[in-house]
Amino acid sequence: MLVSVQLAPSLLAADFARLADEAAAVSEAADWLHVDVMDGHFVPNLTIGLPVVEALHKHASLPLDCHLMIEDPDRWAPGYAEAGARNVTIHAEAAGAPVRTLRAIRAAGARAGLGLNPGTAVESYADLLPEVDMLLLMTVEPGFGGQHFLDLVLPKIRRARELIGRREGSVWLQVDGGVTAQTIGRCAEAGADMFVAGTAVFGSGDPAAAVTDLRTLAAAASHPAPRPE
Ligand code: DX5
Ligand code: ZN
Repeated sequence: MLVSVQLAPSLLAADFARLADEAAAVSEAADWLHVDVMDGHFVPNLTIGLPVVEALHKHASLPLDCHLMIEDPDRWAPGYAEAGARNVTIHAEAAGAPVRTLRAIRAAGARAGLGLNPGTAVESYADLLPEVDMLLLMTVEPGFGGQHFLDLVLPKIRRARELIGRREGSVWLQVDGGVTAQTIGRCAEAGADMFVAGTAVFGSGDPAAAVTDLRTLAAAASHPAPRPE
């Protein structure tokens, strides 16, 4: 059985003055480029906005996975889809009208993602799942790269997998934050199938090799060997 594992290196850990080169370094190995949009309000950090996403869309070959850690995503999210992002994730904690916004993202031609912080229960959003193409479970408090993975999210990954249903279904289950060679197996075993990694990829000497190694570890843990009789 082929297990679907997708890797999305986060440009937050890349050299912002050389984004096109950093994107090219993982273009053969990865599935997506994860772009962390932060507004200094929803999270205490300020990063990339729409003009940079538009520029990346022109110069990067991988599809863009835009993770909006911003207030008022209802206002801004459709613009990221119109700028060419293939997936746009909004945060449940910030959205005022998530159904309308998720539909607007889809109508603009992108996949629609819903992100949950570590302390946000997934059960509260079960009714939104038909509007969602990807559920993002933060495995750190959002805002910064290089933080330690929060094991307390693992039971929620399992519960989310049960709510979503089988792997290879239409809703992808993404984890983001502290995903490394040490932690990716736990996420995959719990049911995640799309993995964001910043420091573990761009903080390594060979980003493409790091992506390939992470994929191998995730696939192995998604697909445990049968127990001996
Ligand atoms: C954090 C961002 C992450 C971040 C992950 O708020 O959403 O995408 O880049 O970085 P690492 O993999 O270093 O934890
Ligand atoms: Zn992110």
